[in-house]
Amino acid sequence: MHTPYKVLIVDDEESILKLLKKELESDERFIHTATCAREARKLLKKHAYDVIILDIRLPDANGLDLYAEFKGQVRDVEIILITGHGDIDNAVKAMRLGVYDYITKPFKLDKLELVLDRAYQRVCLQRENRSLRHTQRSNSDNKIIIGKSEPIKHIKYLIDRLKSSEVPVLITGESGAGKDVVARSIHMTSSRASQPLIIKNCAMLQRELVHSELFGHKKGAFTGASEAREGLISLAHTGTLFLDEIGDLSKDVQASLLRVLETKAFRRMGESEERRADVRFLFATNRNLTKAVEDGQFNEALFHRINVFNIHIPRLMKRKEDLPLLAEHFLNRLNTNQRQCVIPEKTMQLMLRYDWPGNVRELRNVLERALILSDNGIITESTLPKELTATNGTDKAAAPPMSLESMEREHIKNILAVYNGNKCKASEILGIGRKTLYRKIQKYSL
Ligand SMILES: Nc1ncnc2c1ncn2[C@@H]1O[C@H](COP(=O)(O)OP(=O)(O)OP(=O)(O)O)[C@@H](O)[C@H]1O
Ligand SMILES: [Mg+2]
Repeated sequence: MHTPYKVLIVDDEESILKLLKKELESDERFIHTATCAREARKLLKKHAYDVIILDIRLPDANGLDLYAEFKGQVRDVEIILITGHGDIDNAVKAMRLGVYDYITKPFKLDKLELVLDRAYQRVCLQRENRSLRHTQRSNSDNKIIIGKSEPIKHIKYLIDRLKSSEVPVLITGESGAGKDVVARSIHMTSSRASQPLIIKNCAMLQRELVHSELFGHKKGAFTGASEAREGLISLAHTGTLFLDEIGDLSKDVQASLLRVLETKAFRRMGESEERRADVRFLFATNRNLTKAVEDGQFNEALFHRINVFNIHIPRLMKRKEDLPLLAEHFLNRLNTNQRQCVIPEKTMQLMLRYDWPGNVRELRNVLERALILSDNGIITESTLPKELTATNGTDKAAAPPMSLESMEREHIKNILAVYNGNKCKASEILGIGRKTLYRKIQKYSL
């Protein structure tokens, strides 16, 4: 499914504008027109264009100056100049400045159409690159949601239903439960998948700068604002903005955000004119927002607006069926030297008994550590942190430390269990001869 891309054509000849609009507007393109710079500036404040076509001679401005002005204001826009014969020199100069292309009057419609589409393709590419830059860090992690428990199946079902929707989604769940994974998955399955996904943790935003970070600011808007700055909302234009820890935003910012959600309009700091952005919002929090609303800390209207669609991820403890699958997934991913990794039944039992306060993230960390400690890819009890081995009621943490001999006994026992008593395989893994293994089995009465 395609949304039409937006084009602004600025030319002083109204008849040409009319003709171009009639001929060029289609399912794929949406055309706005302006007859002078003043009108164009006004439209630009309200709409987010992908391509702008500028006549080089306008009654109230020179197309080249206007080009520089617009390029400075809008990101990811390509500009095409229309020139008369006498203007070729200027047009060439403009190309050097970064104008996408120029066409000379009189021009053929199909030529213009071609240039337009190509310019738009380039805009898409730029956005895609930007999106890649922002998501690269944890990309490989996150496309797939692992799990077969009922809650995870339901979450996958909901994400699938959301595919062709634009509603804001509120993702809730404890820290480490997988809110980021769900947000990425929603974006990746949506029609905006090739557009930017911008992720921001509101708790990390500097208090004094939140407004400017989100909405941008004009040059000189406050002391220290030596350059104009684009906010996250403009950066996420045509894509998705995922605001994590939404409960941490101050109330005045909450109010501005509500406006964006309701009207798609926002103001940069220091500017009185409104701008528009086409952004799909995702939110996450591990706080209880209902309570925050009751306590007067969270804007009630905003809460209702973002809570239209809620996806809740239960804590890992509540969906233990997912644990073996997740463990296998992480072992495959973290195990860089292609060893075969095994989680013996006993270790799995310990893991299933533990309550995982840090949820999936803690599981990943525990396995990462275990892999480093294990020298043969077998995740034995001894490679687990003591919180896990002490959950057994009998409180093993308080047990006296093991002697080397008892550890050896335990280890051999584990390996034998993993390989179903196959002594040949076990001796190979243990790095000892078969005879030695037999001796030890007798010694320890295994
Ligand atoms: N269902 C899942 N499938 C695969 N990986 C998962 C799943 N759930 C969580 N993870 C992984 O666990 C780690 C933590 O998940 P994530 O960052 O999504 O948690 P979160 O809920 O956003 O936590 P926080 O509240 O701290 O931001 C990540 O490495 C993520 O890739
Ligand atoms: Mg997160």
